[in-house]
Amino acid sequence: MDYIHGYSHQEQERLLQQAEYLREKLILKDLDYQAGESLLEIGCGAGAVLGILGQAFPSLKLAGIDLEEKQIEYATNHLKTLNFANVDLRIGDAANLPWQDNQFNYVYAIWFMEHLNNPQQVLAEAKRVLRPGGTITLTETDYRTILISPESADYRYLMDTLCELLLQAQGNPYIGQSLGTLLNQTGFNEISNQPISFHYANSLNSQELQDFIEYVDSWLAPTINLAIARLGKDPQRLNAGLNWFRSIPERDNGAVSVTIYRAIATG
Ligand SMILES: C[S@@+](CC[C@H](N)C(=O)[O-])C[C@H]1O[C@@H](n2cnc3c(N)ncnc32)[C@H](O)[C@@H]1O
Repeated sequence: MDYIHGYSHQEQERLLQQAEYLREKLILKDLDYQAGESLLEIGCGAGAVLGILGQAFPSLKLAGIDLEEKQIEYATNHLKTLNFANVDLRIGDAANLPWQDNQFNYVYAIWFMEHLNNPQQVLAEAKRVLRPGGTITLTETDYRTILISPESADYRYLMDTLCELLLQAQGNPYIGQSLGTLLNQTGFNEISNQPISFHYANSLNSQELQDFIEYVDSWLAPTINLAIARLGKDPQRLNAGLNWFRSIPERDNGAVSVTIYRAIATG
């Protein structure tokens, strides 16, 4: 796998900040987990989302898996700091889960399916470890949909490049729309696949707009060097696109919107 965000300490801290920023409006949105039940996060990274789920549902039994040892090390420390004992964290591939059948009431994944070249295999494994009637919740950003006003050709070049990077790494920047189809093909039931949209405008709430721009900037800016190295993209245009994006909050007519998809199904 050719994971585009990497595993630096800075990136792990970014995952924590991202989860905090989107805690209520996305990560916990409409969740209704029952006390004492068990949840597995696949692609749990630095444990940022597991921490938030554990705080919101303190009696959930938590488990997580990530391919990368550094992520699991970080997640172990992070969850200890939050006083969660006994989180079952494993290093491993979500396409080959090290748990027996019917172990979990819930499977959760966010900003994970977009990185996979084998989403169906991963979903088949999720279904295997999910108890019959348990739910899976998948959440993915559609990277075509981060729209700005006023528009800029350089910004569009930057976002098209981001999508190309994900595709070249054998991921899928548009997977949000297909989550329901993939769940259907894997034999899940009671499937929903809905967009969750956010829109921020300077004229409505300048602070919210600024916060959103800073959030996107935190993961977008580090992809520029990768795009130059891997795809030979034009550094000047990429940086002009980023600078334009950063200038949106200073513009009276500045606005940005995004669509994130959530799919829910039962096993
Ligand atoms: C963007 S991070 C998201 C982490 C976490 N969901 C969050 O929101 O903070 C994606 C993670 O998926 C992991 N990953 C990618 N492919 C994987 C696979 N096949 N099995 C397990 N983890 C994988 C990466 O190592 C990375 O840590």
